[in-house]
Amino acid sequence: MGGMKNFITFQVTGLKGYILLCLLLSPLLQLSAEPSAQILASEPGTERQQELQYLLKQDCGSCHGLRLKGGLGPPLLQEALKGKPKLYLKQVISKGIPGSAMPPWENLLSDNDIDYLVQLLSTQPSLGAQQYD
Ligand code: HEC
Repeated sequence: MGGMKNFITFQVTGLKGYILLCLLLSPLLQLSAEPSAQILASEPGTERQQELQYLLKQDCGSCHGLRLKGGLGPPLLQEALKGKPKLYLKQVISKGIPGSAMPPWENLLSDNDIDYLVQLLSTQPSLGAQQYD
């Protein structure tokens, strides 16, 4: 996929690439996130789950590393997040971390979407390695 190639190119260019990528992706995200978010009742459907897995890799991964092993942001692998309450993770993803690069996602993602991301982060130890190699 072309996006993947671009992503790698950005990664090679380092921090500037990361930031640029984040900026480039945010409008795209808005378009793709909204329609399906409205259909949701509780757990995201299969299609939405796939979109969220993709988002975790492409968007969160742009800062936290393609395999979530850390980059501009800290690692998000299960070992790294062990001991951090789900409520904390949910809060951080919803509201971001003021004064840092971690952005709030509550305007782009529904509550259920964020719950699903927290679930992914806390239940899949090698999410990165498994899915994106
Ligand atoms: C623009 C860069 C950027 C993007 C995009 C980003 N993050 Fe972050 N994130 C950060 C930074 C930087 C921190 C650390 C901030 C600090 O503690 O000062 C962070 C912190 C976090 C933390 C807290 C980790 C801990 O150990 O306490 C979580 C959880 C997190 N991000 C999840 C996500 C998720 C999920 C996404 C995608 C929906 C995402 N982030 C997207 C930059 C980013």
